[in-house]
Amino acid sequence: MKDNPLEKNILITGGAGFIGSHVIRLFVNKYPNYRIFNLDALTYAGNLENIKDIENAPNYHFIKANITDAKTIKALFQKHQFDSVIHLAAESHVDRSISNPKIFVDTNVTGTLNLMEAALETWQGNFKNKIFYHISTDEVYGTLGETGLFTETTSYAPNSPYSASKAASDHFVRAYGETYNLPYVISNCSNNYGPNQFPEKLIPLFINNIIENKALPVYGDGKYTRDWLYVLDHAKAIDLIFHKGNNKSTYNVGGFNEWQNIDLIKLLCEIMDKKLDRNEGDSETLITFIKDRPGHDKRYAIDASKINKELGWEPSVTFKEGLMKTVDWYLQNPAWIEAVVSGSYQEYYKMQYL
Ligand code: NAD
Ligand code: TYD
Repeated sequence: MKDNPLEKNILITGGAGFIGSHVIRLFVNKYPNYRIFNLDALTYAGNLENIKDIENAPNYHFIKANITDAKTIKALFQKHQFDSVIHLAAESHVDRSISNPKIFVDTNVTGTLNLMEAALETWQGNFKNKIFYHISTDEVYGTLGETGLFTETTSYAPNSPYSASKAASDHFVRAYGETYNLPYVISNCSNNYGPNQFPEKLIPLFINNIIENKALPVYGDGKYTRDWLYVLDHAKAIDLIFHKGNNKSTYNVGGFNEWQNIDLIKLLCEIMDKKLDRNEGDSETLITFIKDRPGHDKRYAIDASKINKELGWEPSVTFKEGLMKTVDWYLQNPAWIEAVVSGSYQEYYKMQYL
């Protein structure tokens, strides 16, 4: 049975988080023959509500565990004999990494190492139909000037503790491939947005603040550029790379969709005014320029032509459509927002913005 590539035990880490929940749903629904194990520590960013609709699916199993706990991770690999890993679990927010870098090393670097060690011990050199897929970010490349794009061969130059921890984990994955022959793929994606994103990141934070008529805290002059990709398009890229990506390869994933923060924020304000039946220009009055983020990267932009040419992937959702869907989701799910902004979120918000 294990030699049939259609029958797999797949470990997906971080499946209760933002991107992970969309990946889990796609895999559980699309691949009934796969046994999908969602391993998540349920930190502040993990929320089982994100995957409530598939929790009773026969091919889905949830495991609450922490990837920093090497012993437990090894025992889980032995017990469930995972064939492949799609590794998304991470501390993911740049601002939190500035105030508390250590946990980023523990989870993002040591946690990744623990998973690879357990995979090597379990697979015992039999790498047929095995893959360790590490999900990473374009932030590992550092910052661009006015022009140019990150390609798969751009040198790493991370500027935040978050991006340094992701860069270190990418290097460890590559090194395990070279040193121990661990089969791997890595993808480096631009900024995601969409339903279920924790309201600490720009788009959901600003949607929530507009709903609540709270200030919109724009760092610096707002003239920082990011490339934005709808989360389901990232999940589809992950599906393709997992199944068709070349061993020991990396793929850049992006939306061909660069926006300066301030322009994006104004577009979001315009959409929100319409959706909330407010007067044109009302939400824009909430924009408040605040002290810049230290080490703030000026511009990210991705050249996603390799995944396009090799695997035929391209974004399917335009930015306007994606933003509309995202706004609609937050407006239709007040209970979800209410639950995640209670408790520790208030402490974080005070520390970060007040
Ligand atoms: P997220 O913060 O929404 O979710 C992270 C998940 O990991 C949560 O469910 C959390 O409970 C879990 N987790 C955290 N620490 C853990 C630990 N020690 N053990 C087990 N589980 C743990 O993050 P996200 O935005 O969904 O990002 C997922 C992955 O994609 C990350 O690796 C991130 O670096 C990468 N990425 C994110 C973006 C983006 O725009 N959000 C872009 C590119 C790449
Ligand atoms: P963010 O969503 O934190 O993603 P990243 O830092 O990983 O790109 O931020 C996106 C951009 O928005 C980034 O340039 C920082 C800026 N930003 C603000 O201006 N104010 C905020 O409150 C936040 C969270 C982000």
